[in-house]
Amino acid sequence: MNKKIDALNRLDKKVVLAPMAGITDGDFCKKFKDLFAIVTIGGYNLDTATYKASKEIEKRGRKEFSIKLDGFNNYIIEQIEKAGESNALVSVNVRFVNVDEAYDKLLTIAKHADIIELNCHCRQPEITSLGIGQELMKNKNLLKEFLNRMEELNKPIFLKVRLNYIPLKELIDNLNYVRDYFDGLHVDCFYPGKPYADLNSLKTLAEEFNDKIIIGNNSIDSIEKAKEMLRYSDFVSVARAVLKGNVGWIKEL
Ligand SMILES: Cc1cc2nc3c(=O)[nH]c(=O)nc-3n(C[C@H](O)[C@H](O)[C@H](O)COP(=O)(O)O)c2cc1C
Repeated sequence: MNKKIDALNRLDKKVVLAPMAGITDGDFCKKFKDLFAIVTIGGYNLDTATYKASKEIEKRGRKEFSIKLDGFNNYIIEQIEKAGESNALVSVNVRFVNVDEAYDKLLTIAKHADIIELNCHCRQPEITSLGIGQELMKNKNLLKEFLNRMEELNKPIFLKVRLNYIPLKELIDNLNYVRDYFDGLHVDCFYPGKPYADLNSLKTLAEEFNDKIIIGNNSIDSIEKAKEMLRYSDFVSVARAVLKGNVGWIKEL
């Protein structure tokens, strides 16, 4: 694909709702009318391995969307429809190990949503022990296998990545290896031990992938922080600020 998405470039809104498992579903999104450029629902499990991992995560008290796989397609159509009531584009954050098993669900998502976001970000051990989530950033061959199949969906594909898990150079090399297969990067500028985003790394990454849509993410909770990050990204996304109800500033941006 390797192209900027016209519809996204024309969007006047600059703030995206970031995915929060167990929280950001259709009902959550539709409460925010005309606020976001894109709302991201999920993350959702698309195969048996990730569904089981999700159930394990729930056992230790973390919220998840553990949706039974045989009812998933009907469920996700309803969620996408509700999320669309926000008047934002709808992106669906997904994870899977077995792309063949996930494929019919990916097809359904592609038919109804605007963007599919592959989760290369999750650090829950139940997920990383399957070799996915943030481990995907290390495994360019597996990433290529997934993205190669996803290209058939003919839908904008975003990768949700986390900075400072692997060295930036390795991340850039691995993303370059698959650069023809994705349209956007949703970048959690995670800065270990720091309560603010790693903007220097975001700048380097955004320069390298200046033909892609870049959504910057992490610790954005004010107009000032959003504007600073928007120097290096097309959009900024917010998660925890929304949970705290801190959304008043978004309209003013
Ligand atoms: C409760 C919770 C659940 C999350 N679930 C997901 C997820 O399923 N997929 C994902 O890519 N990121 C997930 N994230 C990460 C957020 O999308 C975001 O990258 C992170 O919270 C940093 O942004 P913030 O500083 O605006 O909160 C989650 C974050 C929170 C707080």
